[in-house]
Amino acid sequence: TRVALAFSGGLDTTVCVPLLEEEYGYDEVIGVTVDVGQPKKEFAEAEETAEALGLEHYVVDARDEFAQQCLDSVRANATYQGYPLGTALARPVIAEKILDVAKENGCTGIAHGCTGKGNDQLRFEAVWRASDLEVIAPVRELGLTRKWEMEYAEEKDLPVEGGNEGVWSIDTNLWSRSIEGGNLEDPSYVPPEDIYDWTADPAEATETELIEIEFEDGYPVAVDGEEMPAVQMIEYLNEKAGAHGVGRTDMMEDRMLGLKVRENYEHPAATTLLNAHESLEGLVLTKEERDFKTTVDDEWAQKGYEGLVDAPLMNALNAFVDETQQKVTGTVTIKFEGGQARPVGRDSDYAVYSESAASFNTETVDGIEQNDATGVAKYHGFQSRLANAVSAKVEKP
Ligand code: ARG
Ligand code: SIN
Repeated sequence: TRVALAFSGGLDTTVCVPLLEEEYGYDEVIGVTVDVGQPKKEFAEAEETAEALGLEHYVVDARDEFAQQCLDSVRANATYQGYPLGTALARPVIAEKILDVAKENGCTGIAHGCTGKGNDQLRFEAVWRASDLEVIAPVRELGLTRKWEMEYAEEKDLPVEGGNEGVWSIDTNLWSRSIEGGNLEDPSYVPPEDIYDWTADPAEATETELIEIEFEDGYPVAVDGEEMPAVQMIEYLNEKAGAHGVGRTDMMEDRMLGLKVRENYEHPAATTLLNAHESLEGLVLTKEERDFKTTVDDEWAQKGYEGLVDAPLMNALNAFVDETQQKVTGTVTIKFEGGQARPVGRDSDYAVYSESAASFNTETVDGIEQNDATGVAKYHGFQSRLANAVSAKVEKP
């Protein structure tokens, strides 16, 4: 019997390997690492650890698919409590890839090394439980602690370097870099500069820079006139905006189970693209569309955070997003300044905007004169004035 394991080469997933044999009775464990844009050295480390464990190991490249998800999330202006959905959107993609490998290799079980306190267990299992494989979560089911894992690894002589995990618990993919744990678990602890890897200290990024981002149907397609596929665009903007100190978030995050967690994130490309996209929508969508879309966007982000990108609701939301995005074609100029990526110009053939209508220097628009607003002005606030007058009369007769 074989079991496929989501394998990173870290402590959690390394101890899962012997446990799946000893505690769950599998004969063979297959490790699967999915590439969603984590640093190259993480694959080398996973490879090395797998080899030392004698583990059959697969690396699956899902960067294009994941990048597409990221850009889909831009069309929905998706953030959860202020966080662009890096970890969240990556999990279903990773889960699908591991499931594919599991099936191809005749596995009857599928396992992850997530804790029972986090979101990731839920996101993985939402995908896996649609299959008939046995879903296994050793860390959660056996109630493992870090301390126990360290001792077990030592006893079994498993290939985990002391301090392998570093001071922080870090999760990186194309869309964001998340840093948690250690002293950061104290919400009042001010993060030292060295937790950051993608972003320069905004205080030191003093030079400003303008870039132009081109959108087609709500998707960013080119930067400064150069067309780029999704992965390349995200990598390029992480580099460029990161150098300006753009895209840091330090927040209290409400996890699905109700726990609050102190989280730090870096997401320069995400911040840049989300800001640019929203600014273009401001030019081309009507007020009603914009207002309603914030509701749709919030729901989209909520489902995205939960890892439920296959929910029927998501299809319905996407239908609305698709409809609105047909007009989100044009360019936005972004200014990098003081750690911000600020939209400073936008242009589109679909602009719901008439310079002459809004201008202070023209008399009439479509035959409507300034003075025609007098009637509107007389009615504006009519009901409030009436209600206040009535209250005043009733309260002091
Ligand atoms: N809490 C975030 C989420 O659920 C990210 C967690 C990433 N994990 C980490 N070890 N840094 O989306
Ligand atoms: C974990 O692996 O359980 C920690 C991160 C999370 O799932 O939110």
